Amino acid sequence: MQKPWEGRFKEKTEKLVEKFTQSVSFDKRLALQDIRQSIAHVKALSQAGVITKEEEELLISGLLKLKEDVESGKMEFLEELEDVHMNIERALTEKVGEVGGKVHTARSRNDQVATDERLFLKEEIEKILKDLRKLRVALVELAEKTVDVLIPSYTHLQRAQPIRLAHYFLAYREAFLTDSLRFANAYRFADGLPLGSGASAGVDFPIDRFYTAKELGFRSVIRNSLYATAERDFILDVLYACAVCGMHLSRLSEDLILWSTEEFGFVSLPDRLCTGSSIMPQKKNPDVLELIRGKTGRLYGNLISLLTTLKGLPYAYNRDLQEDKEPLFDSLDTLRSSLEVMTLLLKGLQINEERMFSCAGGFTLATDLANYLVLKGLPFRQAHKVVGSLVGYLLEKGKRLEEVSLEELKEFSELFDETALKLLDPRVCADRKKTYGGTSKEQVLMQIENAKREDGLL
Ligand code: ARG
Repeated sequence: MQKPWEGRFKEKTEKLVEKFTQSVSFDKRLALQDIRQSIAHVKALSQAGVITKEEEELLISGLLKLKEDVESGKMEFLEELEDVHMNIERALTEKVGEVGGKVHTARSRNDQVATDERLFLKEEIEKILKDLRKLRVALVELAEKTVDVLIPSYTHLQRAQPIRLAHYFLAYREAFLTDSLRFANAYRFADGLPLGSGASAGVDFPIDRFYTAKELGFRSVIRNSLYATAERDFILDVLYACAVCGMHLSRLSEDLILWSTEEFGFVSLPDRLCTGSSIMPQKKNPDVLELIRGKTGRLYGNLISLLTTLKGLPYAYNRDLQEDKEPLFDSLDTLRSSLEVMTLLLKGLQINEERMFSCAGGFTLATDLANYLVLKGLPFRQAHKVVGSLVGYLLEKGKRLEEVSLEELKEFSELFDETALKLLDPRVCADRKKTYGGTSKEQVLMQIENAKREDGLL
């Protein structure tokens, strides 16, 4: 098979070098974007009078046939043709004859690949935004069901204060909302057209890049041909957004793994989403969550990988840039599968309310008791000390805070009266957190309503 660039070469390429330099085994994933781009490019060439109307029509009909071949899996990609771009060009020439060679007029693979990638990324980000919305909807559905379920919040993984379980789910919903904003931002950066930048300097045919941008749905035209062909910062933005989102998924996984242990006993996962042990008959393992957590490592690795590839590359294009694709594809696939699996798992999550409630109370109420004394006029620092001594006393006695009597309370401070005993209930304590963003029922209900509105559920 002849290579499009073989004109100046006297020797055949070594097989090993072909294998080493090829990218078609993975960049064939950009075939449809490459064809879409070529159709727009052919129109621009015709509009500029670089090719005739007849040639335009012939080329476009060939490209549309190729699109069908790619979609049906009939298109054959050859490693010796190096990458998706040269494969498509060759297949086009086979379909329409020598005129196929005109498609590469006023274009280099350097602006071509960047254009394919930007087209591809915009589509992928839209899919991720949909996945993220589904995950948020699952979290809000859980929140609606658990407004009146109390759990302890944990700080330093020690029981801290009573909160509504809904509040916890809404917290992660916030995190996944910021992820959507990061992806939307990445979309904005990807939304510029490189085509027309040529190999590095621009092209010497009078094509209208603004016309091509409009044809391809790009919001802007990249203003500098070197930047357009040399830079992959727009891919870094996506890899970063994937890494942060993976980190959020990983933390949620970790919570649920802990919560599903016998020691916590807060939740159980449906059998259909768990796996067993080949040796221990009693085991039901949260492998799905562990893998979501584990795969976060790849998401971080892919970001670091491309950052490292880019560092030190002289402007403009270098072949090193070909190394951007595998990390990108891997991060997108990894994140999308993790999002999907997490959404499924949340929908099947079983919640053990009694167990949660029994852990929500106890010494988690101590801060509220200290605040009671503050409202009676005691400076907070002294109130903290009084309740601290009370906790020490009860620990020695083996009693929970709810079991304390008024007489015992009075031994620690004369300011206590029977209204203090009413406080000793996790539901009461949670409802005192009325500040904006707090865990009181009214605040949590408001958060749910806002969330539903933001995701178009109201
Ligand atoms: N496969 C190449 C890449 O992914 C396409 C661009 C190649 N350009 C070149 N001048 N060799 O970057």
